[in-house]
Amino acid sequence: MAKLKIAVLISGRGSNLQALIDACRDADYPAEIGLVLSNVGAAAGLERAREADIPTAVIGHKDFEDRKGFEDALLGELGRAGVGLVCLAGFMRLLSEHFLRPWHNRVVNIHPSLLPSFEGVHVHERVIESGARLSGCTVHIVRPAMDSGPIIIQAAVPVHPGDSPETLAARVLEQEHRIYPMAVRYIAESRLRIVAERVIIDGASAPDAALCNPSS
Ligand code: GAR
Repeated sequence: MAKLKIAVLISGRGSNLQALIDACRDADYPAEIGLVLSNVGAAAGLERAREADIPTAVIGHKDFEDRKGFEDALLGELGRAGVGLVCLAGFMRLLSEHFLRPWHNRVVNIHPSLLPSFEGVHVHERVIESGARLSGCTVHIVRPAMDSGPIIIQAAVPVHPGDSPETLAARVLEQEHRIYPMAVRYIAESRLRIVAERVIIDGASAPDAALCNPSS
């Protein structure tokens, strides 16, 4: 079966991009990366893409007068790349209805919390501050509000007493790298349906989509 061609949108380090690159190296993995696009020319993730011989593009949001102009440029680049799915991986720009309408249900994001709790930035600081015992990460279909939309997979990790934002972030990131390739696989295998804004994964048991890692 033909592989699903995906674009990965980044703004920085690109460790989730790397997890997807690594997954795509497996001949049996049902997706391939056709484009890595960044709104930041200096994003370290672009180098990861170049090393893997993946086409890259930079579209700086500051080069446009308004969000619509920026999003039109993104839409044009994605259209030319001929991809079928857009994966946000640390892409730190909000995408509006204007961008999302033509890509309805075909944009996914990873966020380092158990959404809908702790959307936005400075997540790990806020989790520790709240006294929550569990944190984690979420892959979801993107809707216009920040870090919102139907949830595909989540993984939970404990918050240890004495955790710093950095130690918690590292524990969560390990799970991000695990669940993002899983979510993309479900989509590429056409196993994902959205019914009344809930995700149903055909052939997956509930634990497949809710990975608890109490020992990590
Ligand atoms: C990841 O932790 C990702 O979950 C987060 O940015 C980081 C990017 O790291 N995304 C968000 O906060 C989205 N709201 P990476 O560049 O190494 O993948």
